[in-house]
Amino acid sequence: MPSKKVIGPTVSITGVTGFIGAAVARKLAGQGWRVRALVRPGSEKKLPADLTYEVFSGTLDDISALEQLVSGSDAVVHCAGLVRGLTQAEFDAVNVAGVERLAQVTAACARSPKVIFFSSLAAREPLLSPYALSKQRGEAVLMDNNNFSWVILRPPAVYGPGDRELLPLLKFFASGFAPVLGPTEARFSLLYVEDLADAVSTLLHEFPEGEVLELDDGREGGYDWQEVIDIARRVRGKPIVSVPVPGWLLHSVALLSAGSARVLGYPPMLTRGKVNELRHRNWVCDTAKINRLLTWSPQVQFEQGFRLALAN
Ligand SMILES: NC(=O)c1ccc[n+]([C@@H]2O[C@H](COP(=O)([O-])OP(=O)(O)OC[C@H]3O[C@@H](n4cnc5c(N)ncnc54)[C@H](OP(=O)(O)O)[C@@H]3O)[C@@H](O)[C@H]2O)c1
Repeated sequence: MPSKKVIGPTVSITGVTGFIGAAVARKLAGQGWRVRALVRPGSEKKLPADLTYEVFSGTLDDISALEQLVSGSDAVVHCAGLVRGLTQAEFDAVNVAGVERLAQVTAACARSPKVIFFSSLAAREPLLSPYALSKQRGEAVLMDNNNFSWVILRPPAVYGPGDRELLPLLKFFASGFAPVLGPTEARFSLLYVEDLADAVSTLLHEFPEGEVLELDDGREGGYDWQEVIDIARRVRGKPIVSVPVPGWLLHSVALLSAGSARVLGYPPMLTRGKVNELRHRNWVCDTAKINRLLTWSPQVQFEQGFRLALAN
């Protein structure tokens, strides 16, 4: 008798052409999920080549693309987001209005899929930057919604292969020079991207509906800059020169960077809001809730993750 083909559940993922979305897609596809991807026209070449997915061409502005993407899915993982920008309006157009449209089409499904929304630890501090405020407003869209099940994830700084934000700085550290961009007393959590993808996979099964979850690599109290530099020194096997960068200098560079981005029309490297985030003293996750609600536990702390990220 021919064996019956097992068809896995379907997950629709936004942001698959980005750093985190690609890792999530890889993890879920590897576990038998059928992956649907929303891809912006022109970004197809950024899709991870080693995966099979059903591609839906469109943006978060495109209700009909979102309807096709979401309808018939068992789950939605919303990773797409704007991480670099200048104005509140720019961030809100993607990180708030995009969530509103996705929520609207999800609520309208005959059988609504469950939704995991990628917020950020930044949502805890909405006054720091337009990005942070947009992430808090994006969360509020789901919190006001009773029409489908959702979970909000608030990752801290995520790093790993394919990362275009933190990894370049870490590579700089590994070359022997470490600019210290935050105050010495600042503490922050970190998370290796594959552990994050693994958390998404566990969440989809255990789904603690209606929860906002912070998650990190398990290091209690996080790291400070000196601890990260000490780890980088061990990984490099040679000394590293660390240079504190004062806040006023970062703000001046941000002014220049934002000005040239405005003139040349590209996303700025550094802005006033980004500097405020960098200078904030407490980016340590509170993981009590996720530890209580989920069987997931992180596997990779920074020293191992740093080695892995540099090797890839
Ligand atoms: N990286 C971190 O450390 C970190 C920490 C906490 C939270 N997060 C959150 O995690 C999510 C993913 O971050 P990431 O680091 O993977 O960012 P990323 O590499 O910049 O990827 C962003 C993704 O969103 C897509 N996107 C942006 N605007 C879109 C729009 N209007 N319509 C459809 N797709 C759009 C991008 O598509 P294109 O390829 O076409 O540009 C890309 O696939 C974001 O929501 C971010 O706020 C990230």
